Amino acid sequence: MAGCAPCFGRYTMTLPPASLLEVRGLTRRFGARTVFEHVSFELARGEIVSLVGPSGCGKSTLLRAIAGLDAHTDGLVLLERQVQRGPSDRIGMIFQEPRLLPWLSVAENIAFAAGPRRGDDPRVAALLTEVGLSGVHDVLPKQLSGGMAQRVALARGLFAEPDLLLLDEPFSAVDAITRSRLQRVLLALARAHGTTALLVTHDLDEALHLSDRVLVLSPAGDDRPSHIARDIRIDAPRPRDLREPRMNALRDTLLEGIATVFV
Ligand SMILES: Nc1ncnc2c1ncn2[C@@H]1O[C@H](COP(=O)(O)OP(=O)(O)OP(=O)(O)O)[C@@H](O)[C@H]1O
Ligand SMILES: [Mg+2]
Repeated sequence: MAGCAPCFGRYTMTLPPASLLEVRGLTRRFGARTVFEHVSFELARGEIVSLVGPSGCGKSTLLRAIAGLDAHTDGLVLLERQVQRGPSDRIGMIFQEPRLLPWLSVAENIAFAAGPRRGDDPRVAALLTEVGLSGVHDVLPKQLSGGMAQRVALARGLFAEPDLLLLDEPFSAVDAITRSRLQRVLLALARAHGTTALLVTHDLDEALHLSDRVLVLSPAGDDRPSHIARDIRIDAPRPRDLREPRMNALRDTLLEGIATVFV
């Protein structure tokens, strides 16, 4: 979104563009236990941001809350300053496993949100080409490898052209080579569609490769809710080569930032 420029007499004041996503004071309790508390951050349009944190600190729960899938979270989620109440086409979600419907073809899975039998939508074929899977339009999910199925899940996540894509450890179940390919696919898709992405990962190299920023959630204990403890900018041009000295220095910064939190 372009910045707006209201005029006051002869002065013109340019306001910064609004954030795409504003998360304000999210708190989630399960019974007497508070998992995270007062979680606030913003994502600018087009940013790719990773969310890291120890197992059980509430990453998946936070993503579900932002997606509007959890009505029991306190706080506010705003998309372009509009308060979100429940799920929206503007926010897509991709999980660790592809979660394709086994009785529908690949194309019907991708177009599922648009209604039954929408696999002929020309955008399905275009998305399949973008994720490098042109030949599997009518194939059933059981005929796909794990990496192929996750590409289909990426295409499905983008079908509704969401402004924000939430990804919960999307590549953790595939081998290292496939993972690296899928990371490239994600970067290309995010750029081509102008999509903003918030990605949960346990893989620091994945965070380094993909992210503009890394948010670090602190551990959650029984009487110690997690919170955003670090917001680390990964200031490096793309494409990135993680073997470069600059990236090694950024890895050290990231590791240091995380080590002080994961205690
Ligand atoms: N429906 C629920 N009822 C009770 N507790 C829950 C529920 N969902 C999540 N929790 C608890 O909330 C905490 C955070 O869970 P969550 O799955 O968000 O962690 P995570 O950071 O995604 O962990 P991981 O890295 O292992 O995926 C955990 O202690 C979990 O047991
Ligand atoms: Mg999780």
